[in-house]
Formats: sequence, structure tokens, C-alpha cells
Amino acid sequence: MKTSAATLPVELLSPDEAAAELKRLAREIAEHDRLYYQEDAPTVSDADYDALRARNEAIEARFPELVRDDSPSRKVGAAPAAKFAKVRHAVPMLSLQNAMSEGEAVEFVARMRRFLGLADDAALAITAEPKIDGLSCSLRYVGGRLEVAATRGDGFEGEDVTANVRTISDVPERLSGDVPEVFEVRGEVYLSHADFAAINARQAAEGKPAFANPRNAAAGSLRQLDPAVTASRPLKFFAYGWGEVAGDLPADTQFGMVAALKRIGFVTNDLTVLCHSTEELLAHYRLIESRRASLGYDIDGVVYKLDRLDLQERLGFVSRSPRWAIAHKFSAEKAKTVVRDIEIQVGRTGAHTPVAKLEPVTVGGVVVQNATLHNADEIARLGVRIGDTVEIQRAGDVIPQVLRVIEDAPRGAEPYQFPEVCQCELKTPLVREELASGEKSAVRRCSGEFACPYQRVEHLRHFVSRRAFDIEGLGEKQVAFFFEDADLPVKEPADIFTLARRDAENFKKLKDKEGFGVVSARNLFNAIEARRTIALDRFLYALGIRHVGETTARQLARAYGSWADFEAAARRIAAGDEAARAEMDAIDQIGEAVVDAVATYFGEAHNRALVDRLVAEVTIVDAEAPRIESPVAGKTVVFTGTLEKMTRDEAKATAERLGAKVAGSVSSKTHYVVAGPGAGSKLEKARSLGVSVLSEDEWFKLIGGER
Ligand code: IVH
Repeated sequence: MKTSAATLPVELLSPDEAAAELKRLAREIAEHDRLYYQEDAPTVSDADYDALRARNEAIEARFPELVRDDSPSRKVGAAPAAKFAKVRHAVPMLSLQNAMSEGEAVEFVARMRRFLGLADDAALAITAEPKIDGLSCSLRYVGGRLEVAATRGDGFEGEDVTANVRTISDVPERLSGDVPEVFEVRGEVYLSHADFAAINARQAAEGKPAFANPRNAAAGSLRQLDPAVTASRPLKFFAYGWGEVAGDLPADTQFGMVAALKRIGFVTNDLTVLCHSTEELLAHYRLIESRRASLGYDIDGVVYKLDRLDLQERLGFVSRSPRWAIAHKFSAEKAKTVVRDIEIQVGRTGAHTPVAKLEPVTVGGVVVQNATLHNADEIARLGVRIGDTVEIQRAGDVIPQVLRVIEDAPRGAEPYQFPEVCQCELKTPLVREELASGEKSAVRRCSGEFACPYQRVEHLRHFVSRRAFDIEGLGEKQVAFFFEDADLPVKEPADIFTLARRDAENFKKLKDKEGFGVVSARNLFNAIEARRTIALDRFLYALGIRHVGETTARQLARAYGSWADFEAAARRIAAGDEAARAEMDAIDQIGEAVVDAVATYFGEAHNRALVDRLVAEVTIVDAEAPRIESPVAGKTVVFTGTLEKMTRDEAKATAERLGAKVAGSVSSKTHYVVAGPGAGSKLEKARSLGVSVLSEDEWFKLIGGER
């Protein structure tokens, strides 16, 4: 890290340095404001942002003559909200899968029919309603009174915004009529176009940055620390769902529930209808699309939900989305702009991803400056050169994409040459992996693995990121700083946990370094200490094993329970133990790709050594055993023969929901074989091993359901 005015204490700045520093701060704070207001995607913590503003003020106090016209101190209070308390959702707030075309919407209905074993002509009612482009909120009513309101957050834990939500007039403080004792009502907080325009006019009058779109303005308004500010923003709320319910549900269909929400005091969307065929669904989609511009609020698609709640329950969830609902999105917004440059980003796995740096352009209300080009093959397919005019597309939350080169606009001169070696100083050759199909992957990856500094830094960044170790004060910048630092180097995760010890032994202390002080050094060490104990799922996610995202990490943690059991299994898999492999493969939602990735990771001696060093520094808390109380929890079940009352998919999903493991073959470890007509060798094997064999009816009786 180079020494610059940016790291000097304010008292030591010369007037020239102070002027340069004020200029930098004005630019940097404006950029953070833009990210916060325009993209609703801040890249610094509130504390870091506050520190920048405090530094700006301190310099201005020392050099009043240097205060700039564009100084952040002249723009009143654009600071983002500080901290809200966290709220754990009793029932997770999941997301919806998207259908990007009519074909995908039709397939959604067909898939549900297949899962439920329904014929094409069997009646199946589905609701259709606008997908509101706001932010979802969960309102918990106890005894009919609003108790807590929380944002979605990561789906499992959100922020407590109760005081702010109480200022929304669409949200009743008390529910009317007979309501369940505990009733979590869910829906969307949004702003109308008219109110959005008024808010931006007021922002401009006060010299504050404008919000890019109503969604960001709604998010910014809800996340205000001062409820009086929220009260001055006329937020609205549509109710469309529910979370935890203790007591009787007011209806047994989706449509009935929406009607009940309206009866007890909520605003529901009038464009919610009940359809009885795919044609009706698509007709309603087109109707809503045709009204989109005149609704007065932003929507980005139509949500379809299976009407019968008992069928919703049978369908259940995959990963983070229900099988019984889908968002049929409107087509993406497009725009034309010029490619200024093509940059290569090196990811944690060494993947080299080209990114088009664009002349900024507004697409669907958001300023876009970057678009992904995916990989070298995509650049070749598009024929894109630096200097070309291109058409880009932005669909919902996805990263903008380059669609095509505009041939009749002025073209760039040189075809783009994709690098053949890594961007790091080692210049390691890039390689293309062989796929299961035998073809070469389109992704160019640095073969340097742990030797590649990019990959090491990216690994560390992932390790400390919000959903992994989440160490306050140790963000991307600090990771890069410590990676290079000669006195207190952090080259691998374990080094983070030895920082304080090493600092105590060092002659040159962290508190004396530029950019740090007694307080910030102590805060950092405390924050690291606070994370020395970590839940197993977060730990597994933090390791950064390929294909082990958050959901997979959670599944693995639940299945193995403890680090010791997971690690033992992983090492056995790496050593080629087929039984250990089959066991991991049998875990719900875990497939070959994950098992292979675990094998590769634990097959590398340096990964094992790195993990050992890390494990010696931290305490890993066992995963809670799934709180499923059922007669089949923890049991292994094999289904064989023809099932008559449910499809194979449903049988598997139900058993897994009840905490059972569903296996494909019978062994001495199998607890039950559920055999339908036509069962053959598996049934024989079960009998020869003395495994309990159940008919489908007996299975239903066992799990406490009649069918
Ligand atoms: S139902 C299990 N209905 O879309 C998920 N969501 O992608 C239940 N949204 O987080 C969600 N309008 O913020 C549902 N009519 C609607 C919606 C809606 C907007 C949002 C919601 C959710 C996201 C899912």
C-alpha cells in the first residue's frame, strides 16, 4: 500500500496535501452516495462511511479556506442510516424462481402437475398477481397488534424496522376481526411514481443526491435511523403472503388468504386473480403488462402461485424458492452505449472474467457502467472490440449483459486479445477445464491456485465477507493491505487469528501505522476475537470450496453436524472411499459437482494444512440437529416399485422434509424400504437383509398422514 495523504493524520497534512485530500474525499464520498442512493448497493460499512465524512470535516476545520464548493459537508445529511437490530425470521423469507418466457411459465405449471402426479386435464387453480418492485417486509402481529416489522435481509435474518413501518398508513397497528394469535403478514413496501418524483424534487432542493428509482428510494426511506424521516416519505404496502402463523389460518387457499388479509385491514393488489388454465394465466400476464405504464408504481413481472395451500405444502421448497410459485418477468430493458475498455477480473477460483467498462447509460432507471462479457468465447461470438457501440440489457437484479455489437456505428480498430496468462505477476498460463461432456470449459482459469496472489487475496476476501466470517473492520481493502504488509502479513485465513498475538510480539505496532490508531487497532482485534467462534455452516461456506455456496454449506452442516464428522468424511472421500462418497451424494440437494469439489479440495495437501492451521485457531460450533420431530427423522428410506398415491419426486421431498435420508439402493444401513407393486431386486435385498418393508399405506400411517 503506498503512503499518501490519505493515510496521514490530519494534524500532519500540509496545505497542499489537505487540498488534495479534500478533493479525493469529495469524490469518494460522492461515489459512496451514488452507490447508496442510485444502486442501493453500498460498498463500505456505515462506520467507514462516517469515518470518511469525519475526516473531511476535521480537515475543513483545520483549513477553513480550503472548503470546496462540492464538499460533502455542504450537502446536508445524506448519510445512510446507521445500525438496526437484527431479527431472526421464524419462517425464512424465501425468493421466487423466475420464468423469463411464456415457455418457462408453461413448464412451471407442467412441473407442478408432474410432481403431484396430476393429469394434464385435472383441475389446478393458480393465482396471478403483479410482482411489485419494492422490498419485502415481514410484519409480526401478536394478539392482533403489530409487534415487530423486519426487512428480508438474507432471508433468514433481517433488520428491525418496526418504528419506521409504524409510519406507513397502509400497515394497520391493530388487525380487525378474528385473527391467529401470532400472524406474520408479508408483503411489499413500495413508493408510487408520484411520491418518488416529489421525494427527488425535495432531495434536489436540499442539495442531496437523487434516488435512481422508486425501489431504491423506498429502501433508503425504510432504512432511516430516524423514523421522522421515514414518516415524511409516503411509503405504501401491499400484503400478499404470510410467515409464521400460530392458530388457525383464515383460509385454505392462496386466493382466500389474500381476501382475508384485505378483511383484516391490509391493502391487497386488485389485479390479483384466480386462473384455471395456463391460457388464463398468460392472458392475465398480458393484461398486467399492458397496464404496466399506467399503474402508478413499478412492477417487474407477474407472480403465479398454486391456489390450494395443502398442495403448496406437498410441493414444498427447493433451496431458497417454493416449487409452488414463480415470477414471470417482463422482458428486460435495453440500451445502447460505447465500450470504453475491457477489464479482466480474477475471481477466487482464478476464473478470468472479462467485464466491459461502459460509457455510463441509464437502463430501466439505473446507471450502468459495467456489463459482463462472461468469457473469451462470448467476446469472440459477439465480435466486440474496445470502442464499439453495443446494445446492453439489464433484467431485474442480474448483472447487465452485452447483447450485440451495433455494426453500423463506428467500430473499434483492434480485435480484442484475451490474455493467455494470469494477470498476476507470476503470469501463470490460463487453462480451460475439461467438462463432463469432454468439451473444454469456456472459462479461462489461472492454474496457479494457491501460488496466485489474486486467488489468495480473493480467497481471503471471501473468507471475511458478510456471509462468511463477517469480521467488522476487516473488509476488502484491509485484506489487501494486510496481504502486502511486511510487519503483519495475512497470507491465509489462520493468519487473521494470530494478528493480535503477532502484533504484541512485533516492535512496530499496528496502532502506530498510518491509517490506524490505538482505537481502530483495538477495535479490529476485538472484532476478530468476537468471530473466533463460528457456526459450522458459516465455516464451511468461508472455506471457499467450489460449488459450496451458502445453501450447500447449510445442507452439509446439517447432515454432518460437527466439523470432526464433516472433515473425516471429506478426507475419506478425497482418498477415494466410495461409501463416504455415496453418503454425501445422498444428502438432499447435494450432487456430484459438490462431492467432486470437496474431494479436490481435501485432496490437496496444502489445503489440508491450511485448514488444520485455521481449525487450531477457531472454535466451530456444531450445527443444530434439524429440529424435525418425526418418526422417520434420521432414518434412511428407499422407495421402490410403483407408488400409487404420490410421485417419486414427492415421496422423496416429503421424506426429506421429515428429516429422513432417501437412498437409491438397499444396504444394511437402510431402515425402511417402501415397496409398491412391481418392486423387484431391491425388495428381495431388503428381505434378505431383514430391513423393514412397508406398503405405501403403511408408510403414510408411519409418517402420520392419511392419503
Ligand atoms: S411471493 C416464497 N408475491 O419478489 C416467496 N413476492 O423474488 C414469496 N415480490 O422477496 C414471495 N411482489 O420481495 C410474492 N406479489 C408478490 C410479490 C413478491 C413482489 C417480491 C418479494 C420477494 C421477491 C421474490
